[in-house]
Amino acid sequence: MKPWEKISVSAAGNMVFGGCDCIELVKEYGTPLYVLDERVVREVCRGFDSALRGAGAQGRVYYASKALSTTALYRIIEQEGLGIDVVSGGELYTAQNASFPGERIVFHGNNKTPDELRMAVEYGVGCIVIDSHEEIGTLADIARDCRKTVRVSLRVKPGIEAHTHEFVLTAIDDCKFGLGLYDGEARLAVKEILTRKELKLIGLHCHIGSQIFEKEPFFIAADRLTDFALSIKKDLDTEIKEISFGGGFGIMYTEKDAEAEPYEFIGEMVEALYKNCDEKGLPHYDFCIEPGRAIVGEAGITLYTVGTVKRVPGVRTYVSVDGGMGDNPRHMLYGSEYTAKLVNKPTAAATETLAIAGRYCESGDILIKEAKLPPCQAGDVLAVFSTGAYNYSMASNYNRVPIPAMVLVNEGKHAQIVKRQSYEQLIENDTMAPWQK
Ligand SMILES: Cc1ncc(COP(=O)(O)O)c(C=O)c1O
Repeated sequence: MKPWEKISVSAAGNMVFGGCDCIELVKEYGTPLYVLDERVVREVCRGFDSALRGAGAQGRVYYASKALSTTALYRIIEQEGLGIDVVSGGELYTAQNASFPGERIVFHGNNKTPDELRMAVEYGVGCIVIDSHEEIGTLADIARDCRKTVRVSLRVKPGIEAHTHEFVLTAIDDCKFGLGLYDGEARLAVKEILTRKELKLIGLHCHIGSQIFEKEPFFIAADRLTDFALSIKKDLDTEIKEISFGGGFGIMYTEKDAEAEPYEFIGEMVEALYKNCDEKGLPHYDFCIEPGRAIVGEAGITLYTVGTVKRVPGVRTYVSVDGGMGDNPRHMLYGSEYTAKLVNKPTAAATETLAIAGRYCESGDILIKEAKLPPCQAGDVLAVFSTGAYNYSMASNYNRVPIPAMVLVNEGKHAQIVKRQSYEQLIENDTMAPWQK
């Protein structure tokens, strides 16, 4: 079901999300406000996990927490039995704050610092995904210092670039992540890992793109990664245990996106992997995935208050809200599209095409270029759908605007899980040079 069709209307005539009247939420917590529906997050976690188990696969679903990282969310993911993927000391620290078990954490990144690697080794993360030649020596030295053996996986570039409904195949990826399958770099990295007894190579990893609705690119990845697994088995006498296909499963932002459960083709992906394993005489590897957007994206909405409505005759009407690129930079970064509704008039006919602008000092600060909405006026409350992923996690203090609060809702219950930043917090780290005093 489309996220904007899942809402209901309260007795007061307002939009209800996660069982809560959104106007009541706004009265209590203010705007802009991120709202996350716990029930939806849990349902998607279970959907992915049961698709994987239902396909008879061993392995794990790791929530890619770059999509949204908060202590409360890590608790939910932990309770659902999933793992997480982290990409920084900050995400790892937040996971530690949620007492997330180290063995269910995978650590990614193309330039992890030695301090971050040490933090991960000391916490005992389950796997560190090697992403460069330099990292091999650095990590092995840290592991030796800590007297630990570290399980590592190798991120490879399989020559597939997939986004939405298009994918391209290349032999050489012009990309900062991973090591090439076809230029000898991945093979060299395996050899280097094998020289370090502190490292145990357990798997291969790839991440082929984002907002993907097609299964073919994943099938091609399965073929290419098992080819590589076979070649290192034969030539380097190395047997891996798992293959991870990363994330990238698409969600609905607008009517143009496919209406499908993001975990729908996990079964076919597992089948494709095991068919390749059988044909190539390889064991059935553990099957891992790292969905981020698909787990929290549709579970989130953002509520804004309309401040001004400016008509540019013959051009367009700008409806300006009290948030924008500081809480959601995705339109500015990628031209991403969203769907909106008026919370206080959820059933009114969408007779207008309006530009939803932010409050920041950039003319490109637009949230939605052409939103279909009823006529808007100052004081209306607008909900933007599918903002659970890559909004709060990409938020900034541009123009020194505080980052909004986040509220967790669940069948009528609501509680703040991220407090609204205060002006005091904005200047907390400001100091002055001694000669200014
Ligand atoms: C290695 C890796 N895994 C998982 C993800 C999550 O992707 P998505 O949120 O599109 O599922 C990303 C996104 O950049 C990634 O780089």
